[in-house]
Amino acid sequence: MINEWENDIGGVLFSEDDIKAMVDKVAGQISKDYAGRNPLLVVVLKGSMIFAADLMRAMTINSEVDFMIVSSYSGTESTGVIKIIQDLRTDIKGRDVIIIEDILDSGKTLYRLKNMLETRDPSSIKICTLLDKPSGRKADISADYVGGLVGDEFIVGYGLDYDQKYRNIPYIGVMRNS
Ligand code: IMP
Ligand code: MG
Repeated sequence: MINEWENDIGGVLFSEDDIKAMVDKVAGQISKDYAGRNPLLVVVLKGSMIFAADLMRAMTINSEVDFMIVSSYSGTESTGVIKIIQDLRTDIKGRDVIIIEDILDSGKTLYRLKNMLETRDPSSIKICTLLDKPSGRKADISADYVGGLVGDEFIVGYGLDYDQKYRNIPYIGVMRNS
């Protein structure tokens, strides 16, 4: 056995080289758009940690980073309430904020998070996601920076989990039997 997860993965969707190309593309766009502005990268844990670490190292501008853990209340779609498990330590008033996500699916969490952060009076808020799954969208939200598109399959690796497992896989794969 080469590793403990290979039998659980049905195929590679994005190789390490594919991921690097996506990260470099987005890092280039952000570096150009935010030159001289020292954006605050708001990393939504846990899935985005690996993407964020690579992204900020691929950027050629100064940036800061902070972390949040949020969860949506179930059954309250209309209220737009999210539960903040861990909040930012940074005051975002007047800052250029970029929310970093691993994958934008239904968009409900991000929709609520963005609205909540807007109330703190930042100078701007944009969304950067490694992957976009447009077929899953239920909220009226889109990302400003997108690494790549995926269909409605369930994927793991490079931060993305299934039941908290497989975040450590260096590529992005499809679950066997998914
Ligand atoms: P949503 O956009 O509010 O539905 O939530 C997006 C979150 O769902 C992401 O941050 C992931 O944690 C999780 N997610 C959505 N699709 C996948 C997938 O294919 N694999 C792993 N996690 C996923
Ligand atoms: Mg997850």
